[in-house]
Amino acid sequence: MVNGMKDTNGNLVVVGVQWGDEGKGKIVDVLAEHYDIVTRYQGGANAGHTVYCGGKKFVLQLVPTGILRPNKTAVIGPGVVVNPESLLEEIEQIENNGVPVGERLVVSDRAHLIMPYHRSHEVAAEEARGVGKIGTTAKGIGPTYEDKAGRRGLRTSDLRNPELFLKKCTAVLAEKDRIGTALFGGERFRGDEWVAQYYETARRIVPYLADVSAFLHVEMERGKRVLFEGAQGTLLDVDHGTYPYVTSSSAAAGGASTGSGVGPTRIGAVIGVTKAYATRVGSGPFPTEARDAAGEKLRDRGGEYGAVTGRPRRCGWFDIPAARYAARINDLAALAITKLDILDPLEEIPVGVEYEYAGRRTSDFPAETEILEKAQVHYRTVPGWRQSTVGIREFKRLPSRAQDYLRLIADEVGVEIALVSTGPEREQVIWLEQNWLCQEIALSRG
Ligand code: GDP
Ligand code: IMO
Ligand code: MG
Repeated sequence: MVNGMKDTNGNLVVVGVQWGDEGKGKIVDVLAEHYDIVTRYQGGANAGHTVYCGGKKFVLQLVPTGILRPNKTAVIGPGVVVNPESLLEEIEQIENNGVPVGERLVVSDRAHLIMPYHRSHEVAAEEARGVGKIGTTAKGIGPTYEDKAGRRGLRTSDLRNPELFLKKCTAVLAEKDRIGTALFGGERFRGDEWVAQYYETARRIVPYLADVSAFLHVEMERGKRVLFEGAQGTLLDVDHGTYPYVTSSSAAAGGASTGSGVGPTRIGAVIGVTKAYATRVGSGPFPTEARDAAGEKLRDRGGEYGAVTGRPRRCGWFDIPAARYAARINDLAALAITKLDILDPLEEIPVGVEYEYAGRRTSDFPAETEILEKAQVHYRTVPGWRQSTVGIREFKRLPSRAQDYLRLIADEVGVEIALVSTGPEREQVIWLEQNWLCQEIALSRG
């Protein structure tokens, strides 16, 4: 598993290969030791990135994972949507757990604000969809991005001036009221009282605000290394995912540029995080879903319940066509494979290698949700290793069948593996030392 050296400009995007919850938090936490700044570029508190460190469990929603390492800066980019109340609560929780935040958190002054009406709008829209519902996280993410694209959003910078905030709010609310009355039968959004209350809380994020693009450029000029932390995953990306069963932002690596204000050629390289199997939470197509006892076993062993909503995650097998698609969309230069240990007891492991639809076999990932839902998946079944891999830290110490399984994934997806995770803890990780990323990191440390 060797490939050539890469010029990353010292920067790296960490992106989800599947439908989210791949273990991005764990991998970002591992990598963050070797970077100076961790930047979130899209999504909001729909994300839940779980990290175990110092015997404590952290579920980071909006605050970048880098906050958990001393002397690292955590940056929330302009592509993120921010609910000030939940951001403040998250900061408080992190600090209560013994991690100081203070000036190590920088929030874009161009990020859009999630308002109370975004959440109520989302809940009503989901109800109206009935069985066709997306199964959103009900955090107001979709409607906030709708308003951003509709040019009626409020931004964090608006909080700097109370009079201006009130004025913009009043104009938006008049429009919201007209739409709300038509759609939901007279729900009233206007009201000075809640606007004043919202402002009172929200203004407390003003000290964190900055021009993030300018901040990152100055830091990069000073030689600082930036990690871009994706939320959700490629198959939930609004352009490239299983539309309409997606989130409303650019979760794939391209979003790192627009969502942070750093030009694409400055960014360097992309590492894709994927589970050794597959999960999805919420509705939408999932070709390799195991709707049987084997799927339940994966859920139980993998603790596959949403970090944010607690919903059971749908579980299934590794999907080669989907991963290959994600490799192209993101130009993946390396893979981080997580939760290998969850497969430990299995006698055999199916891997989805091809789809068949209307009598045609394909390894392409089709645009149509209907095809993805109905496609028959052809599997290659490989023998399991039936030994514990928990906490193993060297590739050569893995059972040979586990090594073969990882090689199969790397070969079929066409991307080298840089990291393999063998447990939720920081230390439970294998670095593939021949991989360019490990070499680049070693060089950067002198
Ligand atoms: P994210 O949203 O991509 O950061 O992923 P989540 O945190 O939502 O879900 C991943 C879950 O798997 C978390 O509970 C992690 O603690 C856990 N996890 C990550 N890597 C491993 C691993 O290698 N083995 C095991 N057993 N758990 C892991
Ligand atoms: P992390 O960053 C998994 C899913 C929701 C729903 C769809 C749209 O932890 O990997 P939204 O509230 O975003 O409008 O919901 O996207 N979803 C996620 N699934 N991991 C996530 O984030 C997710 N964020 C959103 O379940 O199906
Ligand atoms: Mg998650």
